[in-house]
Amino acid sequence: MTDLTAPTEPPSLSTLTLERQAIDALLALQHLIDDYTPEHESRVANLALRIGRQLRLNDTQLETLYLAARVHDIGKVNIPLEILNKPGKLSDAEFALIKTHAQASYDVLNRIAFTLPVAEIVYTHHEYLDGSGYPRGLRGEQIRLESRILTVADIVESMSEDRPYRKSLGLEAALTEIRRLRGTRLDPLAVDACLQLSGDDGATAWQQESVQSATL
Ligand SMILES: [Fe+2]
Ligand SMILES: [Fe+2]
Repeated sequence: MTDLTAPTEPPSLSTLTLERQAIDALLALQHLIDDYTPEHESRVANLALRIGRQLRLNDTQLETLYLAARVHDIGKVNIPLEILNKPGKLSDAEFALIKTHAQASYDVLNRIAFTLPVAEIVYTHHEYLDGSGYPRGLRGEQIRLESRILTVADIVESMSEDRPYRKSLGLEAALTEIRRLRGTRLDPLAVDACLQLSGDDGATAWQQESVQSATL
């Protein structure tokens, strides 16, 4: 099976040099605080780019998606590492604090005059199609396609890689989870593209409308 999060080259549009530098500067700062989050963002960006290519996004959309994915959790700099990396269950207050990172990421990125909707894509990376996400409870078409791709990539990477507070749950568990959420929380096309990349055409898998067992 291909390594879905291995490095892959973005289109690198020549007009975006400043945007890329601004993102690199933010990531350099984030690395000073916590190495794990930028590494997670980088793997998510690689997978999001692969899904975007599978869906035949154009070069501008691909580069926007890649840039947004690389800094999608930048707002986590505001959250104490002992909460971010806490093993076991979070309290309601701790979870509420972690959820503030989507707004914080947007507030930081929105200060850069991007010619592309990088800040908006980051703002909605925890929104779900059925309106059950955060921070604004947006639904369906209110969430840009690039963001819906980013959400799928984020879930797959988060579950299939080791995290500071737990070992990997495995790629199969991650793919089962996105199949379960396909069409309710997650964009069906983005899910299908990710499953195809993983070597699973899934033609029958999600028709069985799988088990309601896995949780995030
Ligand atoms: Fe996030
Ligand atoms: Fe993330």
